[in-house]
Amino acid sequence: MREGRTDMSFSFAINIYGCQMNQYDGDRLRTALNFRGWKETDPSQADVIIIVTCSIREKAEQKVLSEIGRYKKAFGVKGKPILAVIGCMAQNMGVELIRRFPQVRVVVGPRHIGLVPDALEKALRNKVVVYLDEDPREMVDLKVTPIIRSNPFKAFVTIAHGCDNFCTYCIVPYVRGRFVSRRPDEILEEVSELIEDGILEITLLGQNVDSYGRDLCKGYRFSDLLRDVSRIPGLLRVRFTTSHPRDFTDDVIEVMAEEPKICPAVNLPIQSGSDKILKKMNRGYTVKGYEGIIRRLRNAIPDISITSDLIVGFPGETEEDFMDTLNMLERMQFDLVHTASYSPREGTPAAVMPDQISQEEKKRRLAIVNELQDAISFKKNLDLVGKVVEVLFDDLAPKGGGLLQGRTSTDKVVLVPGDETMLGKLYEVRITEASNWYLYGEVVSLRDFNDVLEVGL
Ligand code: SAH
Ligand code: SF4
Ligand code: F3S
Repeated sequence: MREGRTDMSFSFAINIYGCQMNQYDGDRLRTALNFRGWKETDPSQADVIIIVTCSIREKAEQKVLSEIGRYKKAFGVKGKPILAVIGCMAQNMGVELIRRFPQVRVVVGPRHIGLVPDALEKALRNKVVVYLDEDPREMVDLKVTPIIRSNPFKAFVTIAHGCDNFCTYCIVPYVRGRFVSRRPDEILEEVSELIEDGILEITLLGQNVDSYGRDLCKGYRFSDLLRDVSRIPGLLRVRFTTSHPRDFTDDVIEVMAEEPKICPAVNLPIQSGSDKILKKMNRGYTVKGYEGIIRRLRNAIPDISITSDLIVGFPGETEEDFMDTLNMLERMQFDLVHTASYSPREGTPAAVMPDQISQEEKKRRLAIVNELQDAISFKKNLDLVGKVVEVLFDDLAPKGGGLLQGRTSTDKVVLVPGDETMLGKLYEVRITEASNWYLYGEVVSLRDFNDVLEVGL
């Protein structure tokens, strides 16, 4: 899928915040601009800085505001770079961004990302361009496969836009609009194009992947898509995120157990260990129901890794509710948990609920859950020391030191000494050391892709 080419030669830099959907959007923009003849460059040289933003918590927005502020002086002196703020926070703050910051010349909401390339070219001809998503069902998508990506070996593919769940703390349904599944043929074509481009690992994205297909009325479900994607020749691994406990069905477990390319890893956000809080959050399941899914997943796929998301300090969370969360973490033995303290988002129901928890108390609770979960994650990782696992290396480790970074099929990060020639290849690695976030190892041997592609992982 390609847009028409034009012959502009502007330069841009792009900075991506937030979730993997933003990464996917950012990479599609990179690709679309590249096809138009634009050059990606260092921010100090760029005509335009594109900031792909997130509104999930106050902190995420503050980071972007301070980045925007950094360009005020240069813009005042040289009239460049101009800034394009796109994505969830653009939608959330809207024209206020233009009012507050003269350097911001483009503001585009996440459902109008298809209009961004033209908006940038207009802005460079001295216009201020704002496209906000007024109708949450409307959409102008960018019909481009992300060929120019931040990572050459793995790619994200959004399978459904928006979210209809309206969890009471969450801003996503307000900024990303209604849930819309992409057509299966479009997704499969995009995955095939990515494989031709050298992609080995695909992650299918949606705010609730388990709802995939519900709006297509053809009986084609998420498990069907998962199976069809995993059977496209040439692909090594398929992942997906995020699952929702209310909509997670056993056919997904079956297809995961049957199809060797689907990685044995699930992120299933629980959010709280208290049924009372889950109800106030409008999550639509109980802790018991959740535990049932975990049991079925672990029975069907014994080596599966299960991660989760958790919010502490939701309004009305008592010490007893918090203890329920700690006990739940002990019982579940998650591989990893993305924890956050509750951040009130204006316009969401929870922001005006009574019994808001103080900042200090939220901080205290967060530190306690982190300490407990770190110990559990560490113990789980320690179990792997001495074992040999398959690792696909995809990047240099951000901490440097001649280390390469890769992932196991269970999505654990493994660091080994190595060089760039090992990137995009699959190795057997003996795990030598563990921390709660990383595993360290040494390479045992190179795995032949052809073997793996035939028999699966
Ligand atoms: N759709 C996914 C995740 C979306 S946002 C799901 O339903 O789980 C990613 C995570 O951010 C959420 O799982 C939640 O743990 C966290 N989050 C969302 N809104 C938040 C808020 N207002 N304060 C703190 N954490 C929040
Ligand atoms: Fe937000 Fe809930 Fe939708 Fe996830 S499912 S994006 S937490 S509203
Ligand atoms: Fe953030 Fe929007 Fe993703 S609010 S988490 S970038 S959907």
